[in-house]
Amino acid sequence: DEKIETLPDPFKMVEKELEPFSDSIKELVSTDQPILSMAAKHFFEKRHGKRFRPTIIQLMSKAVAACEPESMGGDDRWDHAGASKVDVEGGVVTTKNHKGSDVWRKQAQLGQIVEMIHVASLIHDDVLDEADTRRGGEAVHKLYSNKVAVLAGDYLLARASVLLARLENTAVVQIMATALESLVAGEIMQLKSSPEELLQMQSYLRKSYYKTASLICYACRSTALLGGHAYGSTVATACEEFGFHMGLAFQIQDDILDFTAAADIMGKPTLADMSLGLSTAPILYAAQEFPHLQPLVKRRFKEKGDKQTALEALYRSKTAMDKARRLAKFHAQKAVDSLLRLPQSEARDALLRLTYVVITRKK
Ligand code: FPP
Ligand code: FPP
Ligand code: MG
Ligand code: MG
Repeated sequence: DEKIETLPDPFKMVEKELEPFSDSIKELVSTDQPILSMAAKHFFEKRHGKRFRPTIIQLMSKAVAACEPESMGGDDRWDHAGASKVDVEGGVVTTKNHKGSDVWRKQAQLGQIVEMIHVASLIHDDVLDEADTRRGGEAVHKLYSNKVAVLAGDYLLARASVLLARLENTAVVQIMATALESLVAGEIMQLKSSPEELLQMQSYLRKSYYKTASLICYACRSTALLGGHAYGSTVATACEEFGFHMGLAFQIQDDILDFTAAADIMGKPTLADMSLGLSTAPILYAAQEFPHLQPLVKRRFKEKGDKQTALEALYRSKTAMDKARRLAKFHAQKAVDSLLRLPQSEARDALLRLTYVVITRKK
């Protein structure tokens, strides 16, 4: 823990770059339809959101700029047009001209695209989950209506697609379009899991990958591609694996907080997953310890008293919550291992620290 403190602060490192973020994203989603504009802009205020994703992408951009494509990319040496120049001075890798370059601008744009996709999915998610609060305020469908919320989400997605095309990188368009597909797949999986699947840790993790980790995982690979690294390069793969494990650690922690945090701190409803009929890591571990929970999980806590019974078992269990924490930690460690395959840089070390923040966050 003390060692973590000595690593660079991830949020401070990108503070300046993210400064114009809210204003420029609001400009990007402007339309001449006032209601649509208002609904679409709603979540892009500065006070809103932790901005984990744009922070990760900014740091990843810096970290991949510090990688020498030739030495890491194997056979892909013709593929990195546009990669920034790298200097090795006394063993320390420094990047030249990354900030202000075309590559940098496109990566920053990717950060905005990802946040727009994320917000679109949250607006739709709150309709599906009938959740009334988000980011400490009213959900878009409460402020306006379900119809406006559906359209505002669609609109953001449309804007994100236009911006994605403007990156003029077909591989990145393809990867990010696949990420969208995964988000929907994750939601439908959650909606339609069979009783058996509801009990399986494997299904829970697969669903979590689709609905949460995929977006950041594909965005990390895209950041490497925009940075001039080839599709199959060691760098691009390390980035993607980092995103995969970081995303899973993030979702598992989110599911733990659903039980342990207060709604006013989270800025969204808590104890919500069981009400939606969903069993996440803590309950799945509790059901392994107390088999009488298994039928409750399978019937999505539909009968009266089911939620209470499950909750009591979870709090009685001495191991369930701990096992869930250990699972989050396992994926955080894997994320760290992936990062360590990139050469040392300030940005990489800030990402190491961010990984720790994700599993220790309280909101
Ligand atoms: C709320 O995000 C949304 C979720 C908990 C599910 C979706 C999560 C992701 C797509 C996470 C991607 C992965 C990483 C590693 C950050 P949030 O709690 O970030 O909400 P906020 O944007 O309102 O802070
Ligand atoms: C939050 O999960 C929701 C998601 C991570 C994804 C939602 C995806 C869709 C609704 C598919 C549509 C996609 C697009 C791009 C419009 P959660 O409900 O577990 O988290 P919460 O506690 O933050 O609500
Ligand atoms: Mg939800
Ligand atoms: Mg949901």
